[in-house]
Amino acid sequence: MAHSDIVTIQQLQQGPLEEGGWLANKRVFIRVDFNVPLDKKTRAITDDSRIRAALPTIRFAVEAGAKVILASHLGRPKGRDEKLSLEPVGARLAELTGWEVHLPEDCIGDAPKKVIHDLRVASAGQRGGPQLCLLENLRFHEGEEKNDETFARALAELCDVYVDDAFGAMHRAHASVDALPRLVKDRGMGMLVAAELRALARLVESPERPYVAVLGGAKVSDKIDVIEALLARCSAICIGGAMANTFLAALGRNLQRSLVESDKLALARSLLSKADSAGVKIHLPVDVVVGAGVDATEGQVVPVDALPAGTMALDIGPKTVAAYLDALGTARTVFWNGPMGLFESAPFAAGTFELARAMSKVDGFTVIGGGDSAAAVNQAGEEIAAGFDHISTGGGASLEFIEGKRMPGIEALRSGARP
Ligand code: 3PG
Repeated sequence: MAHSDIVTIQQLQQGPLEEGGWLANKRVFIRVDFNVPLDKKTRAITDDSRIRAALPTIRFAVEAGAKVILASHLGRPKGRDEKLSLEPVGARLAELTGWEVHLPEDCIGDAPKKVIHDLRVASAGQRGGPQLCLLENLRFHEGEEKNDETFARALAELCDVYVDDAFGAMHRAHASVDALPRLVKDRGMGMLVAAELRALARLVESPERPYVAVLGGAKVSDKIDVIEALLARCSAICIGGAMANTFLAALGRNLQRSLVESDKLALARSLLSKADSAGVKIHLPVDVVVGAGVDATEGQVVPVDALPAGTMALDIGPKTVAAYLDALGTARTVFWNGPMGLFESAPFAAGTFELARAMSKVDGFTVIGGGDSAAAVNQAGEEIAAGFDHISTGGGASLEFIEGKRMPGIEALRSGARP
């Protein structure tokens, strides 16, 4: 799974950042993943990590004197939906960069063409700073998700160069990720995508052992492929979150009102027996923190074979935390995906945060596979987040990468795919 045949934005520039370099005055389309969480009422951005993560590539292109066009999806709109406009993202981007951001009302056609034509680029002696063009939500057009060639051609008309820096969307065969780059001769990856591929490839190609995976989240059914892939590489897997309930139920425990995928018990048993044959130790909770329901304001620690009637397991308990810390103690590689419990609620956050703290101190290579665990570590605190070697910006994308699946966005950038 080498990625050395994918050109980087630095290689496209063909040399140092200087006036008159190869990217100067070129219209550079950067596919970014600005699919950020928004507050339901105010539409304020609640976590801007994905915008910050794209800044090095954006700055590079601007400093190279390019006309920078940024394109992203936001949410899953069905047609045009003003609640999912990229306007708040544009405002945040302007704050972070100090540059003017222009948001034409549509992502294809005359409106973006005019904005791009008039864009001011960075150049010495010019009055006013550089400007950015941020296209409106790509998913306002159904052609985006349909990977439609005509929609891709309309996007291709806007640019001379294509750069993919949207790691979180590379597993989607969508027009801006798949059809579009195949239409643009000069294409490559941004710095974020390069860093993601470097870090995640290390987990797949040559992980140093002991390699411990920590998996959580709601459903075993979402993680079947990743568990199977990890069985080929890991020394141990520590399981928490509601998915642990399904494993415990498969072993005959009464989980009371806890979330259990009762149609997945046989699957859970088969994964346990595959792990056994592969010599991979699966750690399951020995105690849990239960509450009366997801709105509970207090929790009670109980062994997994003694859940009080009517309660739900909402976090792993202290004995489980201690056992998982033990398993992590000698790890040389750690991959974490999915919280250990309902970390958004204080009485059920300890398991996730204590494990996050321990993983951040592991003397080895530590990676967080995006999604809820990235949100959890940000909530756990800056110091803990800084202790990880890599926090992926892709939830689904990082899992598909670990599973060894073919990712359309990566394939479309390969030199062999040139038109
Ligand atoms: C993500 O949030 O994982 C990416 O932006 C992809 O979004 P999607 O699952 O809506 O395609």
